[in-house]
Amino acid sequence: MNHLIAPSILAADFANLQRDLEMLNVSDADWVHVDIMDGMFVPNISFGFPVVTATKKHATKPLDVHLMIVEPDRYLKAFRDAGADGITVHYEACPHLHRTIQAIKELGCRAGVALNPHTPVTLLQDIIADLDLVLIMSVNPGFGGQKFIDNTYKKLRDLKELSREKNPNLYIEVDGGVDEYNVKKLLGAGANVLVAGSSVFSSANPPAAISNLKYPEKL
Ligand code: DX5
Ligand code: ZN
Repeated sequence: MNHLIAPSILAADFANLQRDLEMLNVSDADWVHVDIMDGMFVPNISFGFPVVTATKKHATKPLDVHLMIVEPDRYLKAFRDAGADGITVHYEACPHLHRTIQAIKELGCRAGVALNPHTPVTLLQDIIADLDLVLIMSVNPGFGGQKFIDNTYKKLRDLKELSREKNPNLYIEVDGGVDEYNVKKLLGAGANVLVAGSSVFSSANPPAAISNLKYPEKL
């Protein structure tokens, strides 16, 4: 499948969120990545339901909601009602991951699991067949604009191998430090959904930055 681009609005201008979303609507972006941080699972707080609801009102593309929160089960329905099309929870935050994944699916959302940089892909072998998406964190979650961790390539290759065996239609998403310099290598390692925050919104030309990620062969 052709790879997808999911710009992260964490790096958008929140005072001009409608403007930034309208830019994404007419860009080569496929999904809108929405980062929820609770100040507990990660050492930062981003935003909550009112911003997700407002985003849904103006975005024409699916919302890819990344929950960096403890006890995500408590809020799955509220995020679906606010407009999430896909919900990704962290492996490290879910002691009953199978139950959590079933709950996301019962809400009618695409179900994803995110792995922190230290969490090995092999831990997913007994759940991967139930997943729609796995998100490999290529930075420690909590902040935009961090340096890409090189071990990510190995994890993407491990995940690609596991997905070949057990779930060939899996979305393999990478999040953190993605830019036009590493895009080709990430795709080569098996990623098929690229999240990008700063490299898109700090660019002088965000729609062109998105196109460069979508069509790297033109770079
Ligand atoms: C980090 C978030 C990312 C973040 C990526 O915790 O999950 O989605 O927005 O930002 P960049 O692309 O700037 O690394
Ligand atoms: Zn994210």
